[in-house]
This record gives sequence, structure tokens and C-alpha cells, in this order.
Amino acid sequence: MFTAGAGEHVLGGRSEHHIPSPGTKFCQVGRIRRVQFEGVVNIKMLCKMPYKDQLVHELNLKKNFADKKEVKMRIICIIGSARSNGSTAAIVDKIIEGMRESNVEVSRYCLGDMNVNFCLGCKKCYEYSGRCIQNDDMDTIMSDLLKSDIVVIASPSYWGDITGQLKVFFDRSTPYCDTNENRIAIQKGKKGISVAIRAGQSDRENIHIIESIEHYYGHLGITPIASLSIKGVNTIDDLYSKEDEINRAYELGKNIINLV
Ligand SMILES: Cc1cc2nc3c(=O)[nH]c(=O)nc-3n(C[C@H](O)[C@H](O)[C@H](O)COP(=O)(O)O)c2cc1C
Repeated sequence: MFTAGAGEHVLGGRSEHHIPSPGTKFCQVGRIRRVQFEGVVNIKMLCKMPYKDQLVHELNLKKNFADKKEVKMRIICIIGSARSNGSTAAIVDKIIEGMRESNVEVSRYCLGDMNVNFCLGCKKCYEYSGRCIQNDDMDTIMSDLLKSDIVVIASPSYWGDITGQLKVFFDRSTPYCDTNENRIAIQKGKKGISVAIRAGQSDRENIHIIESIEHYYGHLGITPIASLSIKGVNTIDDLYSKEDEINRAYELGKNIINLV
């Protein structure tokens, strides 16, 4: 989680003598706080401000930095199911409900609703920029994932494994994979949560699914911090009858802040 604090660098101001004008905006870029000058066309204009005004602005600037305003934790939830109203989505929504007790910003994608094409196997993403030659919803999801602090990936069991939709998503993540020399960098420190749900009564298949998701996290430099295995759910009514499982999902979301 980011905290914007006194020790952070200021970009755009070159030195403390370049004091921002009234209405200056701050934005966080990784751990770097970037200052955007509003109403000041260039650095020369800024330096022409009377020294007294510069001092006032400098004090305001320092106060802002000392406030250590908490920046919201960002969480992305990727539902690997074909159905955005099924049991997998419902259990993820319960986790999200728990998360909402904290200062978080959550985005939710169900792969069944998204247009993510098969990997073409062309390996163009291994060349130069590390980009995929296809333009589809993968760009939307990945640009969100890059901004997130926590990644939640959930899959129902299909034939004892992750769904085809999730496998395609993994294949298409090759531009970001640590085996790709030209990969697009992913900021370190992201945490991952894995969720598996199945109709059968044992955890065995779910463990395999969780391992697959954690394998993906490993290649993206995401640290797995928690997992949830839900069994005996063939229909959504099966899930609703499992009060303990629903509570576990809610508690996982609620305690997310303590896990990172
Ligand atoms: C194509 C297909 C294959 C499935 N294969 C398995 C399986 O191998 N093992 C199992 O326990 N459940 C299996 N199921 C059941 C689903 O995992 C279960 O119904 C799950 O709750 C569905 O999630 P959803 O509501 O998000 O679609 C399968 C379901 C489908 C549609």
C-alpha cells in the first residue's frame, strides 16, 4: 500500500526553490510523488514569484507532505468463470463486500464477459517492446492489473482444472512473464489471492487450481498471500446454503489490509 510521505521525491520542481503555484496538484507514480504545476507555464515563471510567496507555498507543500495522506489500495478481481452471475462470481463478490470495509478501490472482471482472444503463439511479444500484436480486452485488464496492489483470481473447476477462459488469459499474459526477456515490467510488491470452487466433495482439484493460479503469480512476480478452496458447489443455491464458506470469503476480504 502506498503512503505519501515526507521522504518522497518531488519531480517537476527540480529543487525546493521551485515552489508550486496555488492550485498545484499531486499525483502518485509508484513511490514517486509528481508535482504538476497549474497556472505556471514554465520554471522561469515560477522563479519570478516574490520570495515571500514562495515561502508560504513552501510551508504548504511541506505540510502536505507531512500529512502522510493514505493513498487507496487498489485491488483487481479476475473471475475465470464463463458466467458473471454464477457461484465463482458470487464468492468473489463476497470477498469484495468484505474489502469494502477498508479504504480500497476494487475493479472486477469476469472473463466470460470479456473479449480475450487465444494466444496466436507468434512470439512477437518476445521481440522488442514485449507487446502483444492483438488489441482486445486483455489490454484493459492488464493495464488495471499493473496499477493494482492486490490481484484476486478465481476459477471454477472445469474437468479438474482452471477454465479455458482463465488459461487463455494466462497465455496472453506472456508479454509480462519473467521468462520473456523483453517483458513489460510489473512493479514489485503485488500480492495475490487464489480462489477455487468445484462441485465435487474433495479439495484435491481445488488445490491443483490454486497451484495453477500461484504458478501464474510466480511468473509475474506477484506474491501469493492467501487462497480459498470451496467444494460441494454445483449450483448457486449450493453456495448460498454454505454459510461458513460465505463468511470465510467475507472475512478474507475484510482482513485484506492485514495481509499485505
Ligand atoms: C464444463 C464444466 C466442467 C466441470 N468440471 C468439473 C469437475 O471436473 N469437477 C468438479 O468438481 N466440478 C466441475 N464442474 C462444476 C463446476 O465447477 C461448478 O458447478 C462451479 O460451481 C461452477 O461455477 P460457476 O457458477 O461460476 O459457473 C464443471 C462445470 C462445467 C460447466
